Amino acid sequence: MAARAQSTTPVRKVPIHLQSAQNRLLIKNGKVVNGDGIQDADVYIEEGIIKQVGNNLIVPGGSRLIDARGKYVIPGGIDTHTHLQLPFMGTTTADDFYTGTRAALAGGTTTIIDFVIPSKGQSLIEAYKQWRERADEKVACDYALHVAVTWWSPEVQQEMEELCRDHGINSFKMFMAYKDLWQLNDTELFEAFERCKQLGAVAQVHAENGDIIKENCKKLLAAGVTGPEGHEMSRPEEVEAEAVNRACVLANQVNCPLYIVHVMSKSAGEVVAEKRRQGIVVYGEPIAASLATDGKHYWNSCWRHAAAHVMGPPLRPDSTTPDYLMDLLANDDLQLTGTDHCTFSSAQKEMGKGDFTKIPNGVNGVEERMSLIWEKGVVSGKMDPTRFVAVTSMNAAKIFNMYPKKGCIAVGSDADIVIWDPKLEHTISAATHHSAVDFNIFEGITCRGGPEYVIANGRVTVDEGQVKAVQGYGSFIPTAPFAPFVYDAVNEREKVHQLIKVEREGRIVAMRNTA
Ligand code: URP
Ligand code: ZN
Ligand code: ZN
Ligand code: ZN
Repeated sequence: MAARAQSTTPVRKVPIHLQSAQNRLLIKNGKVVNGDGIQDADVYIEEGIIKQVGNNLIVPGGSRLIDARGKYVIPGGIDTHTHLQLPFMGTTTADDFYTGTRAALAGGTTTIIDFVIPSKGQSLIEAYKQWRERADEKVACDYALHVAVTWWSPEVQQEMEELCRDHGINSFKMFMAYKDLWQLNDTELFEAFERCKQLGAVAQVHAENGDIIKENCKKLLAAGVTGPEGHEMSRPEEVEAEAVNRACVLANQVNCPLYIVHVMSKSAGEVVAEKRRQGIVVYGEPIAASLATDGKHYWNSCWRHAAAHVMGPPLRPDSTTPDYLMDLLANDDLQLTGTDHCTFSSAQKEMGKGDFTKIPNGVNGVEERMSLIWEKGVVSGKMDPTRFVAVTSMNAAKIFNMYPKKGCIAVGSDADIVIWDPKLEHTISAATHHSAVDFNIFEGITCRGGPEYVIANGRVTVDEGQVKAVQGYGSFIPTAPFAPFVYDAVNEREKVHQLIKVEREGRIVAMRNTA
């Protein structure tokens, strides 16, 4: 990316009717890329909405003109997985909803989906309201929310319904790890999936076997393994793949659509691909970290360096992992990308200096995701620009029911647009990134291709590479349940899974499943 601006002073939100003709934008001569095709077209924006797409457009005078010749005009990125201002493992993430969304915009992402994580026993609605309070005043770009189900009771089931009905939530995340903190057991998972299905929600899982991890951690610490490498050693690939498989089996029993967050290993990716081939409605989300770096860093001789990479599930020591996951993503074995952006400073990571189980888990990625996927997906020849759009915005918008408001460039859609310059070259560094964290796990990676302009709701938030994010300018995007992209498939499966009465000796004596 081009030179970056220093921190912009946050200002109060200006009502849209008081904004100038800046609200009228004409993007000329670019290649408009959607998830299903590319066209040479101009795009006209007014009041934050795309009003015209085509050639020889007639537009009002006073519109700002952006020349996109030689560039791609793509939908703003949607990061499906962030943790901003998250209290976790005795501390709170370095990025709040302002610095995190500002970093997102800097990298070409115009919508994030963050996770409400209630503490065990806390009301889900109360936690949701806390997240809205934290986020609404700070976000520089639009955001939606997933809600985590960290405990199980009739009240939780009731609140899930209320969240879907009244609060714009259509996805719930269950943890199969973090034993004694957030982990649900198999019966609870089964019931939670059943509840998601009834409500038209997407069930998400953090898929790792928390019981095994707990036992392995005890053993490793007893054997004197206290450094960051112990984090990976306590939860190798099969611990992730087993949980992905188990989640698929459980979800299949109740025909609930399933979404595997942060796919980190080849074997976990393979399980998702195989289950999809069996007709299970399951989606896999690799993240910037698993697509662009690996777990060899846990054995780095510098503790700070190694600890900075600690996240769950961990990065994998097998250095062929990122390429392999990118292949799965390119071929729709995996469907979309997030980042799990959950940053902790070096000082915060120090909390686990003598015990790897106390290193706060999380890495960066919200700013780097788009450029990394372009570099390692498109420049590498694995995917074309339409697939790039599908995996960075369109599929997310479809799965979480924001499409076509988000995730596409079409008349009536939100004007969330990135002018993507394939000739930009940028070397990632903590010295120049916009996140508040002091380490970047992608340090030194050069990406060819990046955002020259980032337009969020019609506002130019990155202007010729200069970041002009404004605190509080984003809005909460409510998401409705029963996303057609997801539930059309679920409903088709429902038909073949119906119980059929069997008549025997003149009486109806049994039921039969046709599947
Ligand atoms: O290490 C991670 N992933 N931290 C954030 C919490 C989670 O599991 O997503
Ligand atoms: Zn997780
Ligand atoms: Zn180092
Ligand atoms: Zn996460």
